[in-house]
Amino acid sequence: MDKKETIGLNEEFLNNAEDQANKLEKLLLMSYEEAKKDGKIIGKISRYGEVKVEENSEIEFIIDPSTYYSEPDAPFHKVGDYLIIIDPKDLRKVLIRIKSIIRKDELAAIGLEPPISQIVNSIEPRGLITNTLVKGELVLEMSKDDKSPRPATKSIEPQSPVVDPNPDILIKLLDLPKEGITFGALSTPSGLVKNGQIPVRLPLSALYHHILILGTTGSGKTTLLKNMIVSMYNQLEKHPISIIIDLNQDFVQLPIPNNISPAPQEVVKSCYKDVRQLKGIISVVPISYDLIENKLDTNKIDINRTLKEIAKKYFYETFSPLINDNILFNQIENYKIMAMETKNPFRLIFIPYVINTLETSTDSLSPLLPGLTPLAKDLLKKMREKFKKNHGVYSPIQAIYGALSIFVDKSIYKSFNKNSSYYSKTNYDEKDELLEQALEYVKPYIINSDNIDIENLKIGNYNFTFLDAIGEYIDILLKARPHEETIKALYRRISSLIETQVIDILIRQQNKLVLINEPDWGTIVNIANDENIPIVLDLKWGLDFAGFDALRAVTYRTLDKLISWKHKSWAQRIETPNIMTIIDEAHQFFQNESKVKEDSDAIRQVSAMISKIARLGRARGVGLIFSTHSTSDLNDIILQLANTKVILRTEKSQLEKISVPKEAMEYLPRLQDRMMLIESFAFRMGYVFAQTTTPLTAHYDISANITYY
Ligand SMILES: Nc1ncnc2c1ncn2[C@@H]1O[C@H](COP(=O)(O)OP(=O)(O)OP(=O)(O)O)[C@@H](O)[C@H]1O
Ligand SMILES: [Mg+2]
Repeated sequence: MDKKETIGLNEEFLNNAEDQANKLEKLLLMSYEEAKKDGKIIGKISRYGEVKVEENSEIEFIIDPSTYYSEPDAPFHKVGDYLIIIDPKDLRKVLIRIKSIIRKDELAAIGLEPPISQIVNSIEPRGLITNTLVKGELVLEMSKDDKSPRPATKSIEPQSPVVDPNPDILIKLLDLPKEGITFGALSTPSGLVKNGQIPVRLPLSALYHHILILGTTGSGKTTLLKNMIVSMYNQLEKHPISIIIDLNQDFVQLPIPNNISPAPQEVVKSCYKDVRQLKGIISVVPISYDLIENKLDTNKIDINRTLKEIAKKYFYETFSPLINDNILFNQIENYKIMAMETKNPFRLIFIPYVINTLETSTDSLSPLLPGLTPLAKDLLKKMREKFKKNHGVYSPIQAIYGALSIFVDKSIYKSFNKNSSYYSKTNYDEKDELLEQALEYVKPYIINSDNIDIENLKIGNYNFTFLDAIGEYIDILLKARPHEETIKALYRRISSLIETQVIDILIRQQNKLVLINEPDWGTIVNIANDENIPIVLDLKWGLDFAGFDALRAVTYRTLDKLISWKHKSWAQRIETPNIMTIIDEAHQFFQNESKVKEDSDAIRQVSAMISKIARLGRARGVGLIFSTHSTSDLNDIILQLANTKVILRTEKSQLEKISVPKEAMEYLPRLQDRMMLIESFAFRMGYVFAQTTTPLTAHYDISANITYY
């Protein structure tokens, strides 16, 4: 409009107002045009309420009855679903998450009742022909020039169109991570968003800040973990090696296909396309003393052959419905460690695992002796270091046990007390009843030693015998004169460590004692990396009757070895694969202090160990995923150190120690199977709901021996 033509102030004002209205009309129309491109217009911001944008603000809009009833399952029917607003000022798109949906029978509200009728409770359909008021929280917004969305803070105009967005627009506005481990499809607490077309992934960087998965029994924790692993191996070119601590043989099934197709199929199609079972696994199987003793042919002591027999037995017993009797197991020659493999029906690399302490410093031994008092630890250190100084290596742990046994047995100890230089290197030949007694204590822990004198048998290729070791330890004890309580405390810990049956396994082979080597975790990870298959630490098969001390010892040892290998490699600038460690049923390994009162020292030491592993893991690329059904049984430190929390169906009482967004909390006890809330710094909105499918690979209870699904 030509300004010169206007006369007088009032005229100008009016004209400008007219201009303004024209301009705004144009803008509004443009926003509706834009809205149509982005999806389906379903309503507009209310003209009546005020539109206030502030921290945590809510916005209201109205949906007319014909839109409201046009489809049975629309986003505006569901709390938690997403819509967008196009603001006419700058045509910016604003993402909102629905918080409440308000329906009202307005006829009833103004007192209009249906005509009196004989039918009791007669219905009045016209009462429902009313507008729906929807309230949503503002989440993120994005203008045309923005590369990624920013927090929604700008004012929003009344009458702005509200849109049910197309999936691509929604994906842009949600700004979900484009790469990473797939957790499932974006959902609301009640069901899929956009029919499962939007994958929820967690970037690998978040993995190294550790994850906690929480959910009641049967809510789908193990299913989720398995789906995460198979999708990672199938979908990510570069990914960490997963190491799974498997208590129930759930994860050894990863190479087995699922006989029934996973559901819902729409989620399979959009989130797990082409995801199939893995080509193989490495089973690291702790081998107990008993197992070796049972399989050993005493006529011809061939340890490799025995381990091969055990590998066969393992494969047969674990996968018997799947395989025939003639499994060919070959020893893999070119690895530095003992490993066997078979190729049919899938690749299985079997690595027998035992702990060997001959190269383990006393500090690194402490995770295996949780609850050891500082005095007892000092004593242990003194004994071991002195021995190492003399022989260049530590002794088998049984020698310490043998020496301590004598001191614990009071009557024997007294006779030692009378003559403190009772034993010395010079009177080897005059060996005494008491030393013989000590050897007897040790003998049950040496395979194939029945009716044999072991006193002159050298250990491994070293130049010492058990008699030497026990003798030296007795000398040290006599000299140090530790308090009786200290000896007892150390004795208790050492004997329960020996009872695990997986530590320092000695076998008499002709005239020497052979010690089985501990496979090196660095080598195992490198094999897994070359083969591109995960590692399963199978704690069920070999240790079924061993008790939890054994399972914990092997688990702590594994974590300790992995982290020190990563750390050492880093210090030497050697590149190594990153690791994703999965600990299903984590409360069994990392218990809570309040639950195990009598052993709170042990629990505190374990907490310190987890903190150290978590801290180093962040820096060196070892991510930890803990899964549990119970926060009250789980060591509190894990709740604090896991930066991403995945919550499947969970009772409120289990959520007290976790900060959960208030509006999401209500839904958690009622979630369906495999539905989850994921809280993570990796998500722009802070949290999302997602749903995974039924297992993508076989998932059955091996111990119950039921058929494969
Ligand atoms: N293919 C399948 N189709 C449908 N449901 C399945 C399928 N496989 C497993 N389920 C169901 O999923 C649930 C088990 O899930 P999962 O084993 O992942 O739970 P969990 O949270 O690990 O439980 P727990 O605490 O007992 O270990 C069971 O209720 C099981 O019946
Ligand atoms: Mg489970």
